[in-house]
Order: sequence, then C-alpha cells, then structure tokens
Amino acid sequence: MSQQLFEAARAAMAKCHAPYSKFPVGAAILADDGNIYAGANIEVLSFPEGWCAETTAIGHMVMAGAKRIREVAVIAEKLELCPPCGGCRQRLAEFADAGALVHLCDANGVRKTLRMDELLPHGFKTEAIG
Ligand code: THU
Repeated sequence: MSQQLFEAARAAMAKCHAPYSKFPVGAAILADDGNIYAGANIEVLSFPEGWCAETTAIGHMVMAGAKRIREVAVIAEKLELCPPCGGCRQRLAEFADAGALVHLCDANGVRKTLRMDELLPHGFKTEAIG
C-alpha cells in the first residue's frame, strides 16, 4: 500500500502549480474509506496565499466524505525527504490518529516512515474548544 501511496503522491506532484518557488510537492492520503486522495502545492502571485500539497490532499479527502487519515505519503522533487511543514503537521493531526503512518519519499519510493505523533509531538490540543 505504501508503494501505491508513493506513486499517487508522485503523480500528484506533477500537477503542482509552483511557478514562484519552482519547488514541486505531492501528497497522497489513504483514508478510512479505503480510497487515496492526492494533492499538489498550489501557489499564487501573492505568495502567502498559496498552500501546500498536504492541504490540497486533505481538501480532496474531506470533500469526498472520508473522515480519517490512515496513512499519508509526501514527496518533493528537490528534497531527499520532505517533512511536512508545521502548519501541515497540525492539519494532518486533525484527521489522523497518533499511530497513523507518514511516509517520506524520494524519487524512488518511501525512504522513511514516521508515526503521526513522532512527526508532531506536543501538538496543539484543547478540550476548551472541542
Ligand atoms: N510545501 C508543501 O507543499 N508542503 C510542505 O510540507 C512544505 C512546503 C510547498 C509550499 C510551497 O509551494 C513550496 O513547497 C515551497 O515552500
């Protein structure tokens, strides 16, 4: 399954819209419904308004009606391993259990696998909100 996720992330990366950073990123989520939802980074001329590959993939998952992330793969063309940025860690953690697997990939496949709680220890949580 991680090979399939890697391939989906790599295919998604090819669809990135990253004319400013020229830093293509792809992500693919295996969701609780058994389907794979992928995404690429999408940039806009007003730089802070762009968003990450993981965020696109989460949007696809949520809009398809899936609820939870079982596994996720991330790949960046120009980086050997692309650990998700801080904001994406929080977004992934919103939908992933502590033991969900995060696969960091290079051009050839999965190179490192972490648990969600290794990727984001001490993440923001509070019962004061929900
Ligand atoms: N990027 C991602 O898509 N995911 C990450 O986890 C790190 C950064 C994107 C955002 C931007 O389009 C480009 O990589 C350079 O920061």
